[in-house]
Amino acid sequence: MRVQLALNVENLDEAVEFYSKLFDAKVNKRKPGYANFAIEQPPLKLVLFENPGAAERLNHLGVEVFEGGDVRAATERLKAAGLADSVEDEQTCCYATQDKVWSLDPQGLRWEWYRLLEDSETFGRKAMTAERRPQDPERVREMVQEGYTRVVQDVDASHAADLSRRVGYSDEELEAVPDGANLGVGCGNPTAIDALRAGETVLDLGSGAGMDAFLAARQVGPTGHVIGVDMTEAMLEKARENARKTGVENVEFRKGQIEALPVEDESVDVILSNCVINLSPEKDRVYREAFRVLRPGGRVMISDVVLERPLPQAVLDSVDAYLGCVGGASLREEYLETVRQAGFREVRVDRESNFADAIGLDDPQVQEVMEKLEITPAQVRDYAKAVISLHLFARK
Ligand SMILES: C[S@@+](CC[C@H](N)C(=O)[O-])C[C@H]1O[C@@H](n2cnc3c(N)ncnc32)[C@H](O)[C@@H]1O
Repeated sequence: MRVQLALNVENLDEAVEFYSKLFDAKVNKRKPGYANFAIEQPPLKLVLFENPGAAERLNHLGVEVFEGGDVRAATERLKAAGLADSVEDEQTCCYATQDKVWSLDPQGLRWEWYRLLEDSETFGRKAMTAERRPQDPERVREMVQEGYTRVVQDVDASHAADLSRRVGYSDEELEAVPDGANLGVGCGNPTAIDALRAGETVLDLGSGAGMDAFLAARQVGPTGHVIGVDMTEAMLEKARENARKTGVENVEFRKGQIEALPVEDESVDVILSNCVINLSPEKDRVYREAFRVLRPGGRVMISDVVLERPLPQAVLDSVDAYLGCVGGASLREEYLETVRQAGFREVRVDRESNFADAIGLDDPQVQEVMEKLEITPAQVRDYAKAVISLHLFARK
């Protein structure tokens, strides 16, 4: 065994140079902000943490042991003496995984009995890493398809109902749609932006499991028709199964990309979409396609996510933030300009709400993304203020 001395140093380079000379020894491990020396004579583990401005020079003291049972024996002895402060098994610290027991001296100085198990690439516990999203539009669509295949497989119906109430659906509407049609992935209720009329043909862009398509089908009645378009096979299967099971005949679900709609020119009266266009890497194409398929005078009723100000690049680059309808969202003005550029008139924001109020920042998925991106709850609250659910009306 050997004694360990862990110091806080102002400048790691200077400290390494000094102690190399003092002990005539080579540094044993050197990482960003951290170095140690394993000195044989006198037996000493000298650890240096670069902590500029630290109140104390001494970080902590310890005893490094080498046998499996030594930490256990120290733990039992310290526990029996009432001196064991905490026990850590297989904890990663200081670029190594270790077993250890901590004790505090009467002044609160920390001592550890520890044994190294293996080296680690990270200083502490290996952080969950945020996966970076692709840039190529086709790859983005594949990523979205994979993500939303998981969504339809893992849906929790009561959580979905709760989220949908928060974004504007009534209990009556939630009860009216087939079981499994509501995935809780909308950011508003587009069918509430303007009334649908009996006999109208409605197109739902990114129809998912059919939530809004089924609500629209009720409103347009047997003389009307609803077309849902989605590119994710698992969504289409779920939506078609729901239509079959409930015997709803005035709705169909077509496979396709909203950037190249499988729909005739000037053939629909109303376009709906709920929390989908933010997921498209080519929003201008989506709005041009929407314009093409609408009849002159036709209406657009869309709930989508936009940003009031830019978010940090790390958030915009993350796969999770993209799938969570935040990473791909455009700035509000840019979004509205895309709609106007496609040729629409009467472009107006019917209503806006804060997206985070609806999803809740304590949602486990939000928490996981925060952890991956290493952002604090305070930063999340700040960014969340910039994420808006926008409910848009426009006419061709
Ligand atoms: C957030 S979910 C919303 C689903 C549905 N609108 C709802 O509110 O329940 C997004 C849906 O859009 C679909 N989607 C995303 N990008 C798409 C694209 N470029 N073309 C077609 N469908 C797309 C996904 O497959 C997924 O079903």
